[in-house]
Amino acid sequence: MTEKDFIPSTYSNEINEGIVAWKAPSNIALVKYWGKKENQIPANPSVSFTLDACATKTILSFKKKETRTDSFSFDFWFEGKSKDDFKPKIATFFDRVEKYLPFLKSYDLKIESSNSFPHSSGIASSASAMSALALCLMDVEKQLNPKMSEDFFNRKASFLARLGSGSAARSIEGSLVQWGDHEETAGSSDLYGIKYPYKVHSVFKKFHDTILLVDKGQKQVSSTLGHDLMHDHPFAERRFDQAHKNLTKLKSIFASGNLEDFIKIVESEALTLHAMMLTSHPYFILMKPNTLEIINKIWAFREHSKTHVCFTLDAGANVHVLYPESERDEVYQFIQDELVAHCQNGQYICDRIGFGAKKM
Ligand code: PMV
Repeated sequence: MTEKDFIPSTYSNEINEGIVAWKAPSNIALVKYWGKKENQIPANPSVSFTLDACATKTILSFKKKETRTDSFSFDFWFEGKSKDDFKPKIATFFDRVEKYLPFLKSYDLKIESSNSFPHSSGIASSASAMSALALCLMDVEKQLNPKMSEDFFNRKASFLARLGSGSAARSIEGSLVQWGDHEETAGSSDLYGIKYPYKVHSVFKKFHDTILLVDKGQKQVSSTLGHDLMHDHPFAERRFDQAHKNLTKLKSIFASGNLEDFIKIVESEALTLHAMMLTSHPYFILMKPNTLEIINKIWAFREHSKTHVCFTLDAGANVHVLYPESERDEVYQFIQDELVAHCQNGQYICDRIGFGAKKM
């Protein structure tokens, strides 16, 4: 598929008003996306676990304007309060997607959004927020074009979400989602995420992710700037190549359930992401002393307990602790006993693999 396939030629229905609502999850990348080309095209493919508890709910009310105008008309409410400061980000998103959603300027819109996790937790909410909004917009488009297939609906939702925030492309469907062109993954695309198309061992179907909130403050460097710094990065090409190779290796790991090999890739990906930050110009550090304390404790515990707990990081100081269902009690006890002390105000979020966005 190409971008042009997402431009509708006509709408078969006319709708005057309505209301739609979607709940979309966050996701945690196993192979990381870091570096992009124009229009949120990723510099390398990535794969993520879809989360369950960390999610955004969005309600979109729409009413046809008396006459179509040449501007967007929308209100934005976040957690029950009108939020004008979020509007420029949404306006930029609407500018990017208008070509693919020509109905947008024909309606007055009200967007009401809320997160299941604290806004100031340092957890990126852009993936779940952008996917929830994209799904609501697709729901309106489906009412205008009821013959749309479910496959197309999901693909275009992911395509639109990507234009809001790259990683949001991975927050539509499935427990394991791949986004970005990868030679050895059939159907993979830079334009949208797909459900991982190959065999996945049962051990990866019930995985836990306990998110340790190490630093809830505003990040010193935004992910937008971080992506940009990959343009002149001395190690960029090798890094992009490595991501392709890691995805290839994961194919047999996902199929066999080999947790030792899974851990090697996932932890290396997390540290490589941060290594790219440490070696960019300007260089920066998003990890905190407690991030390293936690990593070292996870390594020591894994060594003596013979469990398969591991960590990953996103673009911040928080640590995602990953472990299989069969080791839940032992690892959870360890988190309580040894890791929670390193969290800001003792805060953490218990999440697990989820199965994608839901219409409400
Ligand atoms: O979606 P963005 O532009 O916020 O980038 C997210 C990048 C990472 O979270 C660091 C990695 C990833 O693949 O999700």
